[in-house]
Amino acid sequence: MHTRESPKTFRVKSFGCQMNVYDGERMAELLADKGIAPAPDGEEADLVVLNTCHIREKAAEKVYSDIGRLVKAGGERPPMIAVAGCVAQAEGEEIMARAPAVGMVVGPQAYHRLPELIDRAVRGERAVDTEMPADAKFAALPARRRAAPSAFLTIQEGCDKFCTYCVVPYTRGAEISRSFKDLLREAQRLVEAGAREITLLGQNVNAWTGEDAKGRSIGLDGLIRQLAALPDLARIRYTTSHPNDVTDGLIAAHGEVAKLMPYLHLPVQSGSDRVLKAMNRSHTAASYLKLLDRFRAARADIALSGDFIVGFPGETEAEFTETLRLVDAVGYAQAFSFKYSPRPGTPAATMTGHVAREVMDERLQRLQDAINRDQFAFNQRSVGRRCTVLVERKGKRPGQWLGKSPWLQSVFFEGASGIGEMAEVALAAAGPNSLAGELLVPAAA
Ligand code: 5AD
Ligand code: SF4
Repeated sequence: MHTRESPKTFRVKSFGCQMNVYDGERMAELLADKGIAPAPDGEEADLVVLNTCHIREKAAEKVYSDIGRLVKAGGERPPMIAVAGCVAQAEGEEIMARAPAVGMVVGPQAYHRLPELIDRAVRGERAVDTEMPADAKFAALPARRRAAPSAFLTIQEGCDKFCTYCVVPYTRGAEISRSFKDLLREAQRLVEAGAREITLLGQNVNAWTGEDAKGRSIGLDGLIRQLAALPDLARIRYTTSHPNDVTDGLIAAHGEVAKLMPYLHLPVQSGSDRVLKAMNRSHTAASYLKLLDRFRAARADIALSGDFIVGFPGETEAEFTETLRLVDAVGYAQAFSFKYSPRPGTPAATMTGHVAREVMDERLQRLQDAINRDQFAFNQRSVGRRCTVLVERKGKRPGQWLGKSPWLQSVFFEGASGIGEMAEVALAAAGPNSLAGELLVPAAA
């Protein structure tokens, strides 16, 4: 067996969704607790965690090329490599067999055991830990100590929806909700550590259920209402939702809870009912549009966002046109669109009628043109509005700051006092992806 030195420095590289960003932060906290320090910028780390994503494209191939690069860059002293995330879950044993440089593989529900796996790697043992489910994980993670002004909080993991294209139910497992008590505690810690905004995360975030301190059953809206009572928390967001788990209470919360930001990410995937059925989405284009109308009735200025897949097996030109029609009907403030990518083990991967790559490229382009047009129009309509901007970082130009509007637009402006400030700003000019703002000096100042 080949023993090695304990790592002194680490780097976590997260790919994919916001939940991976959250998991990456939690892994960094675990490693810091173990006495391993973040590697300084520009320096090689002794331990590299590749926190992978499996949702689209050749994710596994990308992992192998990243591993190759790390080994090459390390020369005589290659780093200890840990593969985490959804590729680890889906292909753990295969990664171990194909990549001898990998010291350990750890799934998204098992990363709380990373410190043990590192000890084993030091002793020369290579190990795969892809156990599910996640309930043990959160209890084993250290308390939060650091938080950005805008912080993530995973409240729910896994998915029981089984959309036919999607790998998530297999890599993240069945839906589980973290307990209200844990979430309240973690939210309090995040706020104490400097968070002004918390984005509640879940693959199906609006399927969250729990019991509040008085033992009452509550859903996402109840959780939002209770978190809104934290005095130093200014903003709440949540993502990603499924249309079928939207409740009357959640819609009402958008009209009633001032701290709940006017933004909704509600993926639809396609505007064609035939395609939606083949995707096992269990909603129609019309029922989706009706739902959005109800959100708009509760909160007129709500910014709408969604996800789309083009080129699902069997998608015809006419069916794709229905997607464009839906986009026109909604007028999204922002939306994400992807080419269909067959995921091994999912039902759609073995469906007939795969759409040619050039056709997918062309459809994606048309869809993105439509989405970009609407996003720009939304930004232009925002000019003249006054709003708060939560400052997240410095801009590129001296004196410039960058933050987010309530509608999740990036806003550049001058004169902020620092990161984490909630600045009152007038939106003065719109670009396709951001706005320029002017700081409003409070009358009393
Ligand atoms: N191919 C392309 N896009 C996908 N998504 C999920 N699975 C696939 C796939 N196999 C997209 C969906 C989902 C988003 C997170 O990723 O639009 O909402
Ligand atoms: Fe995947 Fe569908 Fe679940 Fe979203 S709802 S994670 S797309 S299976």
